Amino acid sequence: MVGRQDWIASRGRALAGELDIPGDKSVSHRAIMFASLADGISHIDGFLEGEDTRATEAIFRQLGVRIEAPSPSRRIVHGVGIDGLDTPVAPLDCGNAGTAMRLLAGLMSGQRFDCTLVGDASLSRRPMLRVMTPLRRMGARISSGDDQTPPLHVRGGGALRGIEFESEIASAQVKSAVLLAGLYAEGETVVHEPRPTRDYTERMLAEFGWPVAHAPGRVRLAGGHRLRAADVPVPGDFSSAAFLIVAATLVPGSELLLKSVGVNLRRTGLLHVLRAMGADIVELDRRREGGEAVADLRVRHAPLTGIEVPVRHVPDMIDEFPILAIAAACAEGTTTIRGAEELRVKESDRIRSMANGLRTLGVALEETPDGAIIDGGRLGGGAVDSHGDHRVAMAFAVAGQVADGEVVIGDVGNVATSFPNFDVLARQAGFGLRAAGQAA
Ligand code: S3P
Repeated sequence: MVGRQDWIASRGRALAGELDIPGDKSVSHRAIMFASLADGISHIDGFLEGEDTRATEAIFRQLGVRIEAPSPSRRIVHGVGIDGLDTPVAPLDCGNAGTAMRLLAGLMSGQRFDCTLVGDASLSRRPMLRVMTPLRRMGARISSGDDQTPPLHVRGGGALRGIEFESEIASAQVKSAVLLAGLYAEGETVVHEPRPTRDYTERMLAEFGWPVAHAPGRVRLAGGHRLRAADVPVPGDFSSAAFLIVAATLVPGSELLLKSVGVNLRRTGLLHVLRAMGADIVELDRRREGGEAVADLRVRHAPLTGIEVPVRHVPDMIDEFPILAIAAACAEGTTTIRGAEELRVKESDRIRSMANGLRTLGVALEETPDGAIIDGGRLGGGAVDSHGDHRVAMAFAVAGQVADGEVVIGDVGNVATSFPNFDVLARQAGFGLRAAGQAA
């Protein structure tokens, strides 16, 4: 671990050019998992070289899967079959990745062996009861510390049975944990969601040949099948593109082209919201790659007006609230965010992290239990804390592009979990962004 790293973000030039956005984090995690459990050799193209997805890759290597990395963002996975994982001799380290921890809680419940799932300080504070409760109903023997946080101890060798699960939380991670245990369960597993969430698990399982019936908000599968190797082209991560979309919208004179971005409906709630605020974002060359909708996004500067964010869009933009808060702070008028209480249990409490930082930059806002009411206006400079949260750090780097003074962002190392070359790409586009301690 290198020492703590801080950034200084300041106004750069109008953003311009074409950028390739790194691979989707959710798709990359799942591609490693399903390719590892498949019969045969799978190729992953566009794999996210982030710390989170590399943690998943390292775990599957530890479980005996041969994974070749012939060049950056490519992986060749020699699948071991649905029951072919080896017993691990050490805890499985998920790092900062909630997706790895929660999906593996389900998957490991179906193995013959025991294992322990651990994570970093942030992940070790995140709630796990939401996956343990339905998994226990399926017969899983899974335990945690007293406060229902990691590490998780999963005992193998038991029998799982399918359940019909009405999830109270709109969470793709919870849905996926149950479905992955369902692969090993006797009979059918059905998950109903309060609102539809990202559907990569069900879509990718189908691509790997597992029979799955799904409609928005409902998935059904049965245990006892096999996965067959498949090639996975990973689209650019919309959640990473979001920072550049908002930056190009806010900085006068900007025009950016973001190439091959995944535009799965369950991920692009921010597009609807920004357009309703006045943004100029056009999807060019919309196409399908490996079953996923992909487009190039052309973004031009446009003035924004505050809105009431429709609650129905919340799950479709759950990772985009830090950057939406910056857009709202720069919009004319008031933006109201409701129904987003899940933000309190992300990599940081994102409502609190953003409210604290925005107040430091002079923004008037009211924090509510499930969102915030933000009065738009001008941003000043100041020193803000990322709370070790990658998306909070990148959101404030965007704030620095329009703030009247420098924005110093503390503790940005975690940006490498999801968007390792963010600072390089951002500078290439025109950002003023440097490591603290470097000359201006
Ligand atoms: C993810 C689901 C979301 C999202 C996370 C990735 C996934 O979490 O915030 O970044 O890959 O399934 P929840 O399902 O907990 O909302």
